[in-house]
Amino acid sequence: MEKDWWKKSVVYQIYPRSFCDSDGDGIGDLNGITGKLDYLKELGADVIWLSPVYESPNDDNGYDISDYQAVMKDFGTMADFDRMLEEIHARGMKLVMDLVVNHTSDEHPWFQESRKGKDNPYRDYYIWKKPKEGKEPNNWGSCFGGPAWEYEESSGEYYLHLFSVKQPDLNWENPQVRREVYRMMNWWLDKGVDGFRMDVISLISKDPDFPDGPAGITGYAAFNYCANGPRVHEYLQEMRREVLDGRDTITVGECSGVTLEEALKYASCDGKELSMVFQFEHVDLDFDEKGNKWTDRKCRLTELKEVLSRWQTGLYGRAWNSLFWCNHDQPRVVSRFGNDSPEYREVSAKMLAVCLHMMQGTPYIYQGEELGMTNVPFKGIADFRDLDSINAYWELTGKGIFKEEEMLRFLRYKSRDNARTPMQWDASPNAGFTEGEPWIMVNPNYGEINAADQIGREDSVFSFYKELVKLRKEKPVIVNGEYRLLDPESEDVFVYERSFHEEHLLVVCSFAEKELLWRLPEEMAGQAAKRVIGNYEGQQWGPELMLRPYEASVWEWTKGE
Ligand code: NOJ
Repeated sequence: MEKDWWKKSVVYQIYPRSFCDSDGDGIGDLNGITGKLDYLKELGADVIWLSPVYESPNDDNGYDISDYQAVMKDFGTMADFDRMLEEIHARGMKLVMDLVVNHTSDEHPWFQESRKGKDNPYRDYYIWKKPKEGKEPNNWGSCFGGPAWEYEESSGEYYLHLFSVKQPDLNWENPQVRREVYRMMNWWLDKGVDGFRMDVISLISKDPDFPDGPAGITGYAAFNYCANGPRVHEYLQEMRREVLDGRDTITVGECSGVTLEEALKYASCDGKELSMVFQFEHVDLDFDEKGNKWTDRKCRLTELKEVLSRWQTGLYGRAWNSLFWCNHDQPRVVSRFGNDSPEYREVSAKMLAVCLHMMQGTPYIYQGEELGMTNVPFKGIADFRDLDSINAYWELTGKGIFKEEEMLRFLRYKSRDNARTPMQWDASPNAGFTEGEPWIMVNPNYGEINAADQIGREDSVFSFYKELVKLRKEKPVIVNGEYRLLDPESEDVFVYERSFHEEHLLVVCSFAEKELLWRLPEEMAGQAAKRVIGNYEGQQWGPELMLRPYEASVWEWTKGE
């Protein structure tokens, strides 16, 4: 196996609850996934990242785990899992599991023991603190609303939960906790899985002083306050020694609050910690000035270019990027940075795909993104299933911060449920996702947007993604080339160059709904460039490129030819 094969790979993320239901209970399952592996192979996916499938009471759809070594009954059995893994490998693909070890479910036996009292041997598996002046130990807010501390009458102490009350944070300072986690990871790797996506791994080492954040700090802004703690790199290096060394794996750390300097440690090319990280700066740009996501503010293209370019050049040759627009926590990209009107949906979805897939890093495609799936016209709060969205709605409207209609507008724009409606397989009832009642509504546009329509259609978003995935395998410049942003001041176009030895690529993406002309830098205008891919017919190379709404094209030349 080639070293660092994951640098050339494309990862496809499956959110199992919403992917494909094989038994008609309205919930996606493992056998449903196994039945769709040929579809993923056709797209060209090399690796599948599976959001959690472990036993869980589903407070946060499986991100609250009560047994790390059992499969959730809704999803099937361990035998189904083994068969799925075998079928993935038989197609030459790999499987990455979600590793959620910043916290467990409160129904995990460790927590059940821990809350029994101060003398319990499991007490120290979690973070318990005495009240401070009769109140919470500090002012951190939970990511899902309210304080990050829950009081337990019986012992008179609070436990920390950066997420929901049903997701108590594990105490990584306790070596026994770390040993348990490493043992469990080895168990899965021995079973044959190929790596881990590590949920909020940047949060595992808390500041031992548990200092207050700035006054009034809440939610997402507060957990940034305890990200990249003092021992996080020590823990990950220990994990490498205890679990990953000597195994051929792919690991990606979900690193909320990560800075470029920190990422150079997490994802350094020396391979001491992780293969790569997810950073979130580009998808946090449309938060408000206090770091709250509930707003419909749009970010400027210049901001987006600045952030993505800084990560491209900052990690070049030193660490490895992962590239993503979407995941199960983000709204649909075509509705966010593109244009989801019938006229421009496909063309802008393709433009966004070009913009991301021509960068350096490992691209992640989130289920349905390859079809240009859009945000969802949820009617009222009863349509939502995500606890983050529901809690925020009641909290913010309850306090009078937002009116109901306003909050619904923000939810339609930003709610995680936009990504969680069922995968749109075909135009049959419920988009071919289930023969039962789906656990969450299906996007009513499945008649126009579905896989069956797109698989064989040459000009579909699916075919376009397939082509982009293929190009990555064919052109070393995409994997290895140096990155240079052109025209940073433009609010209309995102243009960059990639170069590797004599090979050059120019990537031109218009984010504008209008036609415009873009003038090439002089040194490029004379090159005999060939078009590699584009989202319109009849694209012409010349000193000035004429760009139609959301037009994207990639041009290639070899210096000296
Ligand atoms: C990040 C996950 O992606 C998200 O879905 C989850 O709610 C939190 N971590 C808590 O596990």
